[in-house]
Amino acid sequence: MMEEVNEFDFENRILSNEYDANQDSEVENNLRPKVLDDYIGQEQIKANLRVYIESAKLRSEALDHVLLYGPPGLGKTTLSGIIANEMGVNIRTTSGPAIEKPGDLASILTNLQDGDVLFIDEIHRLTRAVEEILYPAMEDYAIDIIIGKGPSARSIRLPIPKFTLIGATTRAGQLTTPLRDRFGVLFRLELYTTDELATIVKRSASILEIDITDDGAKAIASRSRGTPRIANRLLKRVRDFAIIKGDGVITPDIAKYALESLEIDELGLDNIDRRMLEAIIKYYSGGPVGLETLAATIGEEAITIEDVYEPYLMQIGFLARTPRGRCATRLAYEHLGIPFFTNGGSKQAPGQSSMQFD
Ligand code: ADE
Repeated sequence: MMEEVNEFDFENRILSNEYDANQDSEVENNLRPKVLDDYIGQEQIKANLRVYIESAKLRSEALDHVLLYGPPGLGKTTLSGIIANEMGVNIRTTSGPAIEKPGDLASILTNLQDGDVLFIDEIHRLTRAVEEILYPAMEDYAIDIIIGKGPSARSIRLPIPKFTLIGATTRAGQLTTPLRDRFGVLFRLELYTTDELATIVKRSASILEIDITDDGAKAIASRSRGTPRIANRLLKRVRDFAIIKGDGVITPDIAKYALESLEIDELGLDNIDRRMLEAIIKYYSGGPVGLETLAATIGEEAITIEDVYEPYLMQIGFLARTPRGRCATRLAYEHLGIPFFTNGGSKQAPGQSSMQFD
């Protein structure tokens, strides 16, 4: 089966359509917390992780395999680094698409040390052949190697170090059942609250030596779509405006000015979010409209809409996913300044658009 490839770059969408994986990577690494105490938010995950890590350490065993899933930019890579650090082991980082052949994975696995963490980002994009290497590796700390060809081929089992696999994915549903079932710990990362993001922004500002007021941090946080990666990126862009247009300090006024210049509204919605909601309202009377139809209408990939735009729009109550398709809610109409008419308490019937568009 052909794998669906999502090349969309969530992190850079606000500022550019160009993807540069190395952009700001060094700065980003500095901003990553190294210990659980410095990791803000995801309280339940942290509390459980503390127990699992302490227990594994007391038993002198590797931590069970961990699957981290949820929308992009919420700190899955950061959390993996913290887990390795708290366990006192090395981390080897790779990604699903980077492991092309079963032999690539076999060589990574045999080069680990006992207790090490192997982090595989975008784990849903592993090929089936590579995935099959993982099953005995995860379950029995062994890999099966085929020697010879044809009728004389035989398989030998090679032990590998007792490692911890941390898999990260935006789409847990795309993982095959045998792979998902081999993870002992499954964590779903949630979007962050504005207060949590404001704390993250202040922490990052202090590392980057940027002057920021509490309200300035809040102004950035509330426009960051629940996502630390966006918050940190906006912080750097707002800093530029503060230096050039202000006195170097990030205040709410300078934050608002900068974010308006970036066409990000007070809820953090950008042009694409607005275009999507307007399309549902304008062309489909507010919905329901099927995902594929909507994707074709606005010229985006369905997978991008699902992974990137929808989580936040649903969290703020602007979008509803129903069995018959996507619907814009009353809150979305109000935010876009489009009149919302009800008909006996229910939304207007499909096809009876009462909006004016020019
Ligand atoms: N950077 C990214 N995610 C973070 C988090 N949860 N806490 C602190 N800094 C972060």
